Amino acid sequence: DGGQADLAKFHSGQIVVGLLDPLGNTEAVQSLAGAGVTSFALELLPRITRAQSMDVLSSQATVAGYKAVIQAANMLNRMYPLMMTAAGTITPAHVLVVGAGVAGLQAIATARRLGSVVQAYDVRPASREQVESLGARFVELELETADAEGAGGYAEALGDDFYRKQGELMAKLVSDSDVVITTAAVPGAKAPILISAD
Ligand code: NAI
Repeated sequence: DGGQADLAKFHSGQIVVGLLDPLGNTEAVQSLAGAGVTSFALELLPRITRAQSMDVLSSQATVAGYKAVIQAANMLNRMYPLMMTAAGTITPAHVLVVGAGVAGLQAIATARRLGSVVQAYDVRPASREQVESLGARFVELELETADAEGAGGYAEALGDDFYRKQGELMAKLVSDSDVVITTAAVPGAKAPILISAD
């Protein structure tokens, strides 16, 4: 419920520190302000060197990327690594990671450590080198991404037409993969939905 249930517990003069999603969930933040509560949304903390130990986006993205691979392993009806045994050979699982920021790179590294074959895609051209340095293949999509990177090295929102085309181009990759992990996000905006139910 976006934290609505907790609102009744707050009263004037209190201070709240946490992940508050102020740009996605303005209603809750306005209710807090209306109740006289002072709140600090840690996702708005500048990611400068002095504040690195308070970078909750990085810490939680690291956990999410790692955990996604582990949860997928539990759900998957096969194993990640290539296995050559006396009883036969099992080919490795194929993992696709969409979005190669902090969470995506952690997912790639974890999936690689477990022995799977990993491909990844990001709209920021700068991410290619990072993907390849972790031993994954950077996916080529025929998309115009020159304007995809905005201030501070973050992705810009790219519009529904772009996302629809991206989804179409990725469809075959998605259906050829055993695991798909999506981490694509745009700061302050709703995450793009790139994979349809189909
Ligand atoms: P994020 O959580 O905002 O987004 C995740 C990833 O999704 C990004 O790499 C973004 O380019 C990608 N993405 C957005 N739209 C996409 C689409 N349509 N298709 C595929 N991928 C899409 O980003 P995060 O993880 O917070 O990091 C992004 C940047 O911030 C990186 O350049 C990273 O190096 C930098 N960074 C800087 C820090 C610092 O200065 N202390 C700390 C952590 C990250």
